[in-house]
Amino acid sequence: MTQHDSPAPGSDGESVRPDGALPVVAMDGPSGTGKSTVSRRLALRLGIRYLDTGAMYRAATLVVLQRGIDLADAAALAEAVAQSQIEISTDPHKAAVTLDGTPVDSEIRSGPVTAAVSAVSAVPAIRAQLVRAQRELIGAGGIVVEGRDIGSVVWPSAVPKIYLTASAAVRAQRRAGELGSGSDLAAVAAVADDIERRDRLDSTRAHSPLAMVADAIEFDTTELDIDEVVNRLVDIVQAGVGHA
Ligand code: DC
Repeated sequence: MTQHDSPAPGSDGESVRPDGALPVVAMDGPSGTGKSTVSRRLALRLGIRYLDTGAMYRAATLVVLQRGIDLADAAALAEAVAQSQIEISTDPHKAAVTLDGTPVDSEIRSGPVTAAVSAVSAVPAIRAQLVRAQRELIGAGGIVVEGRDIGSVVWPSAVPKIYLTASAAVRAQRRAGELGSGSDLAAVAAVADDIERRDRLDSTRAHSPLAMVADAIEFDTTELDIDEVVNRLVDIVQAGVGHA
């Protein structure tokens, strides 16, 4: 159901590790922590691939919304996703998601998709399909993988495993800024409510909930700027920190 674009690890970044190992960097954490920006920039700096697994759950959500499937009907949701063709690029220069051959990069960020994605991503059969596709995409490594369950479920041997956090207020402000409404107090409050609702659903679902694994390195990005976080992560990956 899912195909992919997985070019060889790039050669245009800084050298990855002195021993030539191709890392799988797991980037987990809730929304609004700067995860997407940090993950993509880290991949660019290291000259490796980038996988946004949230975009895959969003594309699956678009499938079920387009077909008007009842969000409470887990079997019908999983069937619709299995029949669709979700393709995602792992090139950090051009994030691109297609659904049955049509680019859907802006549609998957729409309000209705964002409102429904927690329900769709809680369906075990959908998670199983997407986790299988994610593992194929990760393949031999050389990739930064962003999501909620990368270190815990998708690739437990990832090194390093990074868990980004930030205060609720900063997360809401950043997400509203991305949506172009960062100076509108009512809009920031609405985004804060939505983040709180999604965090609750993502952290309390029965299957693969958002949680920090014991060997993850936690970064609180509340007071750090993105460049600082990326610089520190480049050092961590290149030094091989987090290896047993
Ligand atoms: O990172 P994002 O906001 O684009 O993710 C969209 C939703 O997908 C989010 O509410 C949780 C879900 N998700 C997930 O359950 N597991 C992942 N690995 C990635 C995202």
